[in-house]
Amino acid sequence: MGLGISPGLLMLVAFFWLPWLSDVGAQSTGSARALDALLQDYAYQAFKALNKPKTGIPYDGAVPLNLTGIGISALRLRSGSLRSRGVTMYKEFEIPKGVVVTPYVERLIFVYQNLGNLSSVYYPLPGYAYLAPVLGLLPYDASNLSATNLPELHINASDKPISIKFQGVSSVPAGSVAKCVWFDLDGFPNFSNAVSGNICSTAQQGHFGIVVESNAPAPSPPPSVVPSPSGGEKGGTSKVWIIVGSVVGGLALLVLLAFLVLWLRKYKRRKKMQQMEKAAEVGEALRMTSVGNTKAPAAMVTRTQPIIENEYMP
Ligand SMILES: *[C@@H]1O[C@H](CO)[C@@H](O)[C@H](O)[C@H]1NC(C)=O
Ligand SMILES: *[C@@H]1O[C@H](CO)[C@@H](O)[C@H](O)[C@H]1NC(C)=O
Ligand SMILES: *[C@@H]1O[C@H](CO)[C@@H](O)[C@H](O)[C@H]1NC(C)=O
Ligand SMILES: *[C@@H]1O[C@H](CO)[C@@H](O)[C@H](O)[C@H]1NC(C)=O
Ligand SMILES: *[C@@H]1O[C@H](CO)[C@@H](O)[C@H](O)[C@H]1NC(C)=O
Repeated sequence: MGLGISPGLLMLVAFFWLPWLSDVGAQSTGSARALDALLQDYAYQAFKALNKPKTGIPYDGAVPLNLTGIGISALRLRSGSLRSRGVTMYKEFEIPKGVVVTPYVERLIFVYQNLGNLSSVYYPLPGYAYLAPVLGLLPYDASNLSATNLPELHINASDKPISIKFQGVSSVPAGSVAKCVWFDLDGFPNFSNAVSGNICSTAQQGHFGIVVESNAPAPSPPPSVVPSPSGGEKGGTSKVWIIVGSVVGGLALLVLLAFLVLWLRKYKRRKKMQQMEKAAEVGEALRMTSVGNTKAPAAMVTRTQPIIENEYMP
């Protein structure tokens, strides 16, 4: 049988694989959450390792080798001081006074993340290109420096927003406009206009990026603080894997379908045979005759009588 690859079959394949493909997107936010937890742990460890860590001073931490390219830092603050004074400058973040932390804690630690060349791995944004690495600012309770898997605290800068001055921003291609993107803790992106050139603002914790739509001419990679030449490349590789995965999966599905069709045909044929046998038993049955102990079908007696050729004379 000719199992031609009909458009219908292809659509069926696509139908089965689309949910899997959209899962890939969901997985990346899952890994971003796991990364947050890991970086909180590493930032706290670095802070705790100090002899007498000071409140109000940022301390850089080290990440495991498999995350080379990511920068982290920890800054401990009293929540009262955060509210009444703010922080003049914490890396790229300028935190004004009036920021409220909920639920209430006496001291908090702001874990800072610079995702460097892994930005588009953990925060893929199809249709956009990052002009600078994605930054994270996540507050946690500072009461136990050994704690892991801490829940993030919530901050609300309702008086005056927190500003983010992105460093080493690539030049914006002519004709396009830089946009700010804020990812909430579920990895959900929300776009807004830049306050000016390379400055974005936020009232909340989360991850932040500055982007342009990528159908515009590709921007040169950011010559950033953290060595980060090829953020897009990893995204490209994962895209390739998605395509390879779908093709292999699609083929497997085709083979499965072919087997199903073959099996159905075989099943139908067997059914038909059974019906024919039944019909034969009920209807004009073959006469059985005994050959020794077993019964065997015997032909009817009537036969074309042999005619001797000689008798047949014209
Ligand atoms: C990187 O290494 C750390 C510690 O060895 C491990 O806990 C983590 O799961 C690894 N992360 C990735 C993304 O491989
Ligand atoms: C990111 O940059 C670091 C340091 O240059 C490098 O070791 C790492 O392989 C890079 N990662 C990716 C995914 O490009
Ligand atoms: C701090 O957290 C660690 C790890 O979760 C836990 O073993 C320890 O008991 C905690 N210490 C306090 C004082 O809560
Ligand atoms: C932040 O605080 C303001 C003023 O108290 C309130 O109106 C607003 O809803 C809060 N926003 C969030 C996201 O909690
Ligand atoms: C995204 O931002 C806009 C403008 O600040 C706001 O109205 C909207 O509710 C936000 N969406 C989400 C999902 O937070």
